[in-house]
Amino acid sequence: MLTPPRQFPPSGTARKRWEKMSENSFQYDVLIIGSGAAGLSTALKLAPHVKVAVLSKGKIDDGSTNWAQGGIAAVLDAADSIENHVRDTLVAGADLCKRETVEFVATNAPKAIAWLDELGIQLTRDPNGDNNQPFHLTREGGHSHRRIVHAADATGRAVQTTLQGQAVNHPNIDVFENYLAIDLVTDRKFGGEGRRCIGAYALDLGTGKVKSFNARTVILATGGASKVYRFTSNPDGSTGDGIAMAWRAGCRVMNMEFSQFHPTCLYHPQAKSFLISEAVRGEGGKLLLPDGTRFMDRFDERGELAPRDIVARAIDHELKRLGADCVYLDITHKGADFIKEHFPTIYENCLSYGIDMTQQPIPVVPAAHYTCGGVLTDLRGRTDLTGLYAIGECAGTGLHGANRLASNSLLECLVFGEAAAKDIIEALPVEDLFKPIPDWDETGITDSDEEVIVAHNWEQLRNVMWDFVGIVRTTKRMQRAQHRVDLLLSEIDEYYGNFRVTNDLLELRNLSVVAKLIIQSALWRRESRGLHYTTDYPDLDESGTPRQTILVPENFAGRWVISGQWKT
Ligand code: FAD
Ligand code: SIN
Repeated sequence: MLTPPRQFPPSGTARKRWEKMSENSFQYDVLIIGSGAAGLSTALKLAPHVKVAVLSKGKIDDGSTNWAQGGIAAVLDAADSIENHVRDTLVAGADLCKRETVEFVATNAPKAIAWLDELGIQLTRDPNGDNNQPFHLTREGGHSHRRIVHAADATGRAVQTTLQGQAVNHPNIDVFENYLAIDLVTDRKFGGEGRRCIGAYALDLGTGKVKSFNARTVILATGGASKVYRFTSNPDGSTGDGIAMAWRAGCRVMNMEFSQFHPTCLYHPQAKSFLISEAVRGEGGKLLLPDGTRFMDRFDERGELAPRDIVARAIDHELKRLGADCVYLDITHKGADFIKEHFPTIYENCLSYGIDMTQQPIPVVPAAHYTCGGVLTDLRGRTDLTGLYAIGECAGTGLHGANRLASNSLLECLVFGEAAAKDIIEALPVEDLFKPIPDWDETGITDSDEEVIVAHNWEQLRNVMWDFVGIVRTTKRMQRAQHRVDLLLSEIDEYYGNFRVTNDLLELRNLSVVAKLIIQSALWRRESRGLHYTTDYPDLDESGTPRQTILVPENFAGRWVISGQWKT
């Protein structure tokens, strides 16, 4: 049972460093947009020093964090080493990870696990473990050793409940549920150059009113954008809001072509977005064609434990070759006791659809799972704007390169949450806040009378991305997608300018920006690397140092024009 989040305004003896400046505006030291692993871990690190507001566009636990299954990668076994973790991450990332970032994250991983342990998280213990290393370590694709710390097959729920249990009870943290951030506000509002972030506007979904938040520091922790694809393992809120907001505010965005497709999501007409963890393959699960034969060995010598891009592409290839709806994941040979102990959530969920994974293989298909690119940051989570940080799945730290290694994502949230908090605390005290952000202007705005158009555009966008910018790409298909997305963008722009904003409209607006960034990045990469595979350029470009795709918003003016550039 989750602890209910504390509502604003905080009750009791909370130290009153926030200020409600008017009915529609608030002022905080730090505004964090997002309440998953990135947002809450950063909030907890900051809260002893500053007053923090955490916004969530849904319930506090609506993000991907709560859905994470497999675990968190960290070198804890004496037979393993940080160098191994670094090497596995670099190999999975197809030579595009920033080594400095990878080393930073792998080195800080054991400390991150120790911190969660101190907070009281219930991780699965190893019956043969000792005080030095008490945790059970599982294995996932691309990892050369067992190094995944987990809470059975519901690690994300354990992380989320642990962090939110602390956050909602902290006197310096105010959680605003059902507040959807619309856009960042910069000093441009007061005639500045637009290089300093001073807060954000957010739609209070309870009242339908737009509120403003002044803050000395704003942190984007809004998660990924996999909802841009028709089939996804993600919750509904993964609409890339932070990436789109940062882009509109003038931040560079990197490596958006690398959308990760998880190889194994449950295939069932009634099942929406249910993942079958990679740990099932890690513990011996085999992928089978509909006729019962194994196939992964034909694609990679690591078989089922090859990195995700390879497994997802192999499945896609076989599905297209055979005209089949799904392939199968079989772990029945491990026996019912083992399966129920290690995968209780997956077992129960499959059973609810009439699939007993202890007796029969699970039907699976690939689905969009993770956004490897994001808002360009440095090792402290700082973006191009002063006072603006990006952490977690919305950030482009350089950790994942062209393909994220399994279970490196929750880890990245924790490590960068701490790094950003440290940077913010070290810079205290910062200058006084700017003047209060003016109220949201609704002059000339009416209620939309055609919500159905927004719904249709959502569907169209996600279908176009799935059909034309999916696991296997071609230039022609991507150009087709680009054309359609441009049309959608201008239609949505018109809507945004004329009608009262709604949840659906704002998310669609963000998704279409993200779609544009993905397509442009993919078109510029004239090679196949990691998750980006195009039949027009099927080989790696080995002619020089691998290049990151960095998109630059024109004039840093918050416009959606890409004056992109390649950078190494
Ligand atoms: P999230 O947890 O997604 O949180 C985003 C937050 O931002 C939410 O609170 C949301 O409400 C809020 N938000 C978004 N937009 C707005 C807005 N406009 N205004 C206000 N609030 C907003 N990774 C691993 O490392 N190990 C795993 O085992 C693993 N398993 C996974 C299984 C599944 C099914 C999925 C979907 C992902 C998995 N991942 C895993 C990936 C990992 O869970 C995510 O990358 C990670 O949790 C992202 O954390 P986050 O804090 O960045 O974002
Ligand atoms: C999984 O459990 O397969 C997901 C792990 C991840 O996305 O890192």
